[in-house]
Amino acid sequence: MKVLVTGGCGYIGSHTVCELLYANHEVVILDDFSNSKKDVLQKIETLTGQKPRFYEGKVQDKALLKEIFESQKIEAVIHFAGYKAVGESVEKPLMYYENNLESTLHLLEIMQEFSCKNFVFSSSATVYGSPKSLPIKEDFPLSTTNPYGTTKLMIEQILKDLSKSDPTWNITILRYFNPIGNEKTGLLGENPQGIPNNLMPYIVRVANGILPCLSVFGDDYGTPDGTGVRDYIHVVDLAKGHVKALEHFSGLRIYNLGTGHGYSVLDLVKTFEKVNGVKVPYKIVERRKGDIAACYADPTKAQQELGWTAEETLEDMCRDSYQYIIQEAKREKSLK
Ligand code: UFG
Repeated sequence: MKVLVTGGCGYIGSHTVCELLYANHEVVILDDFSNSKKDVLQKIETLTGQKPRFYEGKVQDKALLKEIFESQKIEAVIHFAGYKAVGESVEKPLMYYENNLESTLHLLEIMQEFSCKNFVFSSSATVYGSPKSLPIKEDFPLSTTNPYGTTKLMIEQILKDLSKSDPTWNITILRYFNPIGNEKTGLLGENPQGIPNNLMPYIVRVANGILPCLSVFGDDYGTPDGTGVRDYIHVVDLAKGHVKALEHFSGLRIYNLGTGHGYSVLDLVKTFEKVNGVKVPYKIVERRKGDIAACYADPTKAQQELGWTAEETLEDMCRDSYQYIIQEAKREKSLK
């Protein structure tokens, strides 16, 4: 299939582009580098031996979208592009609503115009809010606690309405749990600017001495060791889920992409230390506002309907995450 990947240079997007190319799909990337680096394109080529057609720009730009659809015979779209920082979305809600909603609306309008009706949307477990029980199934009640999450939920609603109005659309909504890790060579990975918000990017920076100490946000949750529990999923497994979604389009579908296992913050720290032979100093601090105690998926539906299962272990995720930061530091040093 010829697939347009918006945000194809980002963390999940770039891994998905590689998996699509390995599975012999043709890829066109649209990205504005707002949260990625230009060298990702070269890295994709090094890994896959292929150079996807690339357009630099914003998904909101309808003229650019039109140009892409006029010149490329796009058969399906995977839509990753969007702002994703929870804290920033609370500070700048209008920016989040404008960017995430407008881009998706413009994209869907152009797709409709060109009769391209195969769409995979990058949603998040954040749409389950604070779940009433665990593990989380796709039909659980939905709610959000911040504007970022609300944009995901609103887009899901737009997609449901669109599918109802025109059942010839194939729309697959993928709700991701907590992606970490990276492809095995350590070439592609997650490299957030400044101080990371998420746990794994923080841990790797403490492990290699860029940051002094991890703050563990609370040890008084109702979890086995009192720290927050999440369903960490290897980003390559997550990327493979998108290839499966493309190959199983059928009307409106919604899937959890998670492993089904919950690990605590301290499980992650200890596993990381063990597999990498490093120390991750940490201190317990106050809970972070807006955090929930525990969240993990029931991934049965994706197993049964897409034939997809996460295969990588927590050990793999910890090893790969650290490899990337070591390799990236070497690459940066060699450029100086
Ligand atoms: N944590 C720490 N210290 C840190 C960072 C995180 O103790 O420095 C803890 C958090 O309290 C939480 C766990 O590590 O218990 C995971 O936190 P992350 O920030 O890595 O991930 P979240 O589960 O908070 O959020 C992530 C994405 C969201 C997405 C959500 C979906 O960042 O975009 O998963 O479940 F919506």
